[in-house]
Amino acid sequence: MSLLSSKHLLGIKDISSDDIDLIFSTADNFKQILNRPIKKVPSLRDVTVTNVFFENSTRTKISFELAEKRLSADVVNFASNNSSVKKGETLIDTVNNILAMKVDMVVMRHPAPGACQFLSEHIDAAIINAGDGTHEHPTQALLDAYSIREKLGSLKGKKVVIVGDILHSRVALSNIYCLQKLGAKVRVCGPPTLIPKHMAALGVETSFNLRESLEWCDVANMLRIQLERQEDRYFPSLREYSLQYGLNLELLNSLKKEIVVMHPGPINRGVEISSDVADSDQAIILEQVENGVAIRMAVLYLLAGKGA
Ligand code: CP
Repeated sequence: MSLLSSKHLLGIKDISSDDIDLIFSTADNFKQILNRPIKKVPSLRDVTVTNVFFENSTRTKISFELAEKRLSADVVNFASNNSSVKKGETLIDTVNNILAMKVDMVVMRHPAPGACQFLSEHIDAAIINAGDGTHEHPTQALLDAYSIREKLGSLKGKKVVIVGDILHSRVALSNIYCLQKLGAKVRVCGPPTLIPKHMAALGVETSFNLRESLEWCDVANMLRIQLERQEDRYFPSLREYSLQYGLNLELLNSLKKEIVVMHPGPINRGVEISSDVADSDQAIILEQVENGVAIRMAVLYLLAGKGA
């Protein structure tokens, strides 16, 4: 039985701040274990997890697989591009066939918003959303918030600006829910064409001015321009986007205070963030990736009902 308030992790919208606190305290324990010479624990020895990825991934897929293996789960990987999906099999049939082989948990990435919710209504296993289209990416938001907490001590009252392609970003929506549940103030910044109209209804400020937003914030989360999800042209060129909304070292060094710079990856170096900023001491991009394994171990462990 899950130790979170839900059987699944479909999004941050559906979980409580108590759930997030429990995930963070459990991740603290796993992070200690990950820094020991022997990084493996037997916690999920009797649990089988399948990673079902219908979209490309580097960080999330490797991070989940490592988390599962560090917990001693049995792991099966499924990539749609070399599967019977290509022969016309539906999502439910695909997953039910996997579950018939006695799988307990499914980690799924899918291009369709709501795909994980849909699956959870039709199958019995615990589902973890590893990114569903433009909707949510809950473990990314958890590892982002955890990384800010690690760097700044607490999220309460901290000001976070999420910059860039908010319209197509599942990372932005999950971050907004997560940061607000933990007491942070959230602003989005980008070209008007890439900011959805419903931001005010979420209690999020909007700004079109990067410098002013960077002066306001404690943390800037620089998002990737998601060209693969853009059917229309939302700005004249990548060069123009970069000139107005890219973070370079000159701009970062000209701010009145030192801010924390984040990026969920993959980075478009020279577009949303310059190489010297991505590699600077103010960027915690690789710390985010490192924390992702501990966060995903915590989520798997708690959903499997193993307790802290
Ligand atoms: N941040 C993130 O989701 O990266 P991947 O697409 O490589 O998993």
